[in-house]
Amino acid sequence: MVESISQRLQREKADLERLGHLHEGTGAGRNWAITFMLAFVGGISFIIGTKYPRDPDSASTLPLNATQPPNHKTGKAELEAAWVDFADVVGQENVSTVPELIQQHAISDWSSHQSDPEHKPFCVVYPATTEEVSAIMKICHTRRIPVVGYSGGTSLEGHYTPTRGGICVDFSRMDKILALHKEDLDVVVQPGVGWETLNDQLADDNLFFPPDPGPGAMIGGMVGTGCSGTNAYRYGTMREWVLSLTVVLADGTIIKTRQRPRKSSAGYDLTKLFIGSEGTLGLVTEATLKLAVKPASSSVAVASFPSLRDAANCVARVVGDGIQVAAVEILDDDQMRFINQAGTTTRKWTEAATIMFKFTGTDSGVKEQIDIVKKIARGTGSLTFDFAKNQDEQKELWSARKEALWSMMALRRPGDHVWTGDVAVPMSRLTDIISETKKDFKASGLTNSIVGHVGDGNFHIILLYNNKERELAEDCVHRMVKRAVQMEGTVTGEHGVGLVKRDYLPHELGETTVDTMRKIKMALDPLCILNADKVIRIQKPAKGEVAEW
Ligand SMILES: Cc1cc2nc3c(=O)[nH]c(=O)nc-3n(C[C@H](O)[C@H](O)[C@H](O)COP(=O)(O)OP(=O)(O)OC[C@H]3O[C@@H](n4cnc5c(N)ncnc54)[C@H](O)[C@@H]3O)c2cc1C
Ligand SMILES: *[C@@H]1O[C@H](CO)[C@@H](O)[C@H](O)[C@H]1NC(C)=O
Ligand SMILES: *[C@@H]1O[C@H](CO)[C@@H](O)[C@H](O)[C@H]1NC(C)=O
Repeated sequence: MVESISQRLQREKADLERLGHLHEGTGAGRNWAITFMLAFVGGISFIIGTKYPRDPDSASTLPLNATQPPNHKTGKAELEAAWVDFADVVGQENVSTVPELIQQHAISDWSSHQSDPEHKPFCVVYPATTEEVSAIMKICHTRRIPVVGYSGGTSLEGHYTPTRGGICVDFSRMDKILALHKEDLDVVVQPGVGWETLNDQLADDNLFFPPDPGPGAMIGGMVGTGCSGTNAYRYGTMREWVLSLTVVLADGTIIKTRQRPRKSSAGYDLTKLFIGSEGTLGLVTEATLKLAVKPASSSVAVASFPSLRDAANCVARVVGDGIQVAAVEILDDDQMRFINQAGTTTRKWTEAATIMFKFTGTDSGVKEQIDIVKKIARGTGSLTFDFAKNQDEQKELWSARKEALWSMMALRRPGDHVWTGDVAVPMSRLTDIISETKKDFKASGLTNSIVGHVGDGNFHIILLYNNKERELAEDCVHRMVKRAVQMEGTVTGEHGVGLVKRDYLPHELGETTVDTMRKIKMALDPLCILNADKVIRIQKPAKGEVAEW
């Protein structure tokens, strides 16, 4: 900066001298030139003097009103030039501009973010190694091109929908299991490994990786959203199952957050910083994951209840009594009816509020758990109680839970969209929030259902709406989120923030907490090229853009 100013001054001085020669002989012209030059140099020196050395930014946080809009370069010429650079790194065949692929990397049918055809990546780049990802980031950093990471594409809140053009980095070619350390109970994988594929492989060694989000999700995206699933009640979330990450930062720097021991107090926990950061702080290119030993025996039971309140009460009792069930899922009467209507499972279900339990342990342990839970269910008014007598029945019973979203999507009328919303509250408030929310949604007239990982106080709503009903749906979700915050809960238990929940964070966490997150974002990615606008805003919203709280 200083150099360029002094260069400019020199240039201008030379220009003035030339001007002086032209005017040679006219004394008035020379005097004017000298006066102008002195004033100009004086002025510039004064400005430089006030700026350099500049005081370091002394604030601990970065409030939204102190941000500068990022200066990205997304003109066609710039992106086409970058395309050539990418092709040098990964080969021309691994950079795509095929419209169908671009579309798939911009939005999905299951995203609650309202799609905007304007927002799509210019190209999709498919790297194969950490070094290639680093080279891609260096190109984007130099050229100031926004980058969004993409793994399984199953995230639900507009997580990978670009907002400022740029490119998408798809990790599907990075799908190798790099090292399995059986005796250490850990595995090193690339980000494009799917959790289902991983578990198929691990089964040979009687091991498994517990986090179980949407079918098709991959490790990179699961780190991105800090996901959970039905196993979280017993085993915890993604946050508990990652030992170490290799991450490529915005400027292409490669870091590894830790080695492989089960515990460590060595400095800041950067591993956890990246979990749930939704690709806004760096791109994960390798992950070391903890593994669990497969339980010897397992079973599934399904109980139905006269009302959601009764069902939720049963869950509260089971959890409160410290029964070691492996998973507790709730599905409301509407959801059970939709599953029957969609015919996605082989069985006909009782169309009432339903709880599904998963039990794991030794043979006798599982039997004992089933007996205890059956008693509690009866005590809280259960209508039916069935448990799987074999592996096939187990799969069949659990299938209803796994098919929930698909059965709902199968019921869409032409023009319908689906919205999956997610909140979590402290256990004691679960019954209240579920029944209030259900009442509210019924009143809206929208097709809706409630499903959830209730053992963690976490539940989801699934809504169908068309373009005319979008506002109605938004209002319903808004009231549910507000209810959760008022009950000391969270605006998202597991799906993450994406574009849809950003403006709720200050209400849940406080402005200053979000300002701290923004400071961290800017420290690691000052040019804001990594998944800009996700999780936290980096630029003030337009007037009226944010709904009133
Ligand atoms: C039917 C269905 C059921 C679901 N059930 C659950 C559930 O039970 N629990 C749950 O938690 N979620 C659930 N989800 C949501 C979803 O599966 C999870 O959010 C999952 O973690 C997303 O993984 P993905 O590979 O699809 O990520 P993507 O959608 O590809 O990406 C998610 C985010 O991570 C970023 N990202 C991707 N790859 C990388 C990388 N290598 N480095 C850095 N950032 C990256 C992306 O930019 C994006 O912000 C469900 C979804 C569906 C469709
Ligand atoms: C930003 O807003 C805060 C309070 O909302 C105010 O105190 C501060 O002066 C503002 N800063 C700027 C740069 O406008
Ligand atoms: C592009 O990807 C394909 C498929 O993974 C691979 O075979 C090929 O070698 C890649 N090209 C380059 C130049 O890396």
